[in-house]
Amino acid sequence: MSDHSHDHDEPQNPIAKVIGKIFIFAVPAALIAMLTIVGASFVNGALHQPVVATPVAPPQTTPQYNVELGKATYATCMACHGADGQGMKPAPTMSMAPSFVGSELLLHENPEVPTLILLKGIKKEGMEYMGMMAGLGAALDDQKMAAVLSYTRKNFGNKGSVITTEQVATARAKFADVSEPLGIPRADILKVVESHK
Ligand code: HEC
Repeated sequence: MSDHSHDHDEPQNPIAKVIGKIFIFAVPAALIAMLTIVGASFVNGALHQPVVATPVAPPQTTPQYNVELGKATYATCMACHGADGQGMKPAPTMSMAPSFVGSELLLHENPEVPTLILLKGIKKEGMEYMGMMAGLGAALDDQKMAAVLSYTRKNFGNKGSVITTEQVATARAKFADVSEPLGIPRADILKVVESHK
């Protein structure tokens, strides 16, 4: 069998044509090979760098909260709980609302306790306070609620933990079936939380 290139009319030098074909194949192949090497070393670098860079730094575990939003949202609470968080007192013997300072319910270790109070309110059963704690679930979104709960847990001398927006969102979904238009009776708050484990 003779060379196929002789069967057709080839205006070009057949050697130049073969070299051209090799070149057309070789250039993209080389590019792909190069990109693969560059890519692999980039991924390698990205994977290795943090392992080398962070063995000493402790992980960031303390959640932060939006202080400005917390402070701004506290305006909603101030008329009853007071600018100083100790309960607004229209007269020395009268109080609109309980003090936040050291409040067991506000500072409860389970963040769902104060979140539930803010979502659903506390039913007014006595004359101890002139105000009444209505549910603010419709008035405050998750972000504002998390910020204001964190703000009250961390101010007025309190040293409670931050409540995150995610925790509020979870609690809102969890307690969606709690229907207490007048608020949850104070004595039932912990029971409601317990029954929604
Ligand atoms: C219209 C008045 C009023 C407003 C506004 C109000 N509260 Fe209250 N809050 C009360 C009263 C009254 C109680 C006590 C309810 C009871 O026992 O009858 C209370 C109780 C609470 C408690 C339980 C604390 C304890 O130790 O008993 C928390 C937590 C709380 N409020 C948070 C808030 C937050 C946060 C805001 C603002 C976003 C807010 N409240 C706005 C009146 C109010």
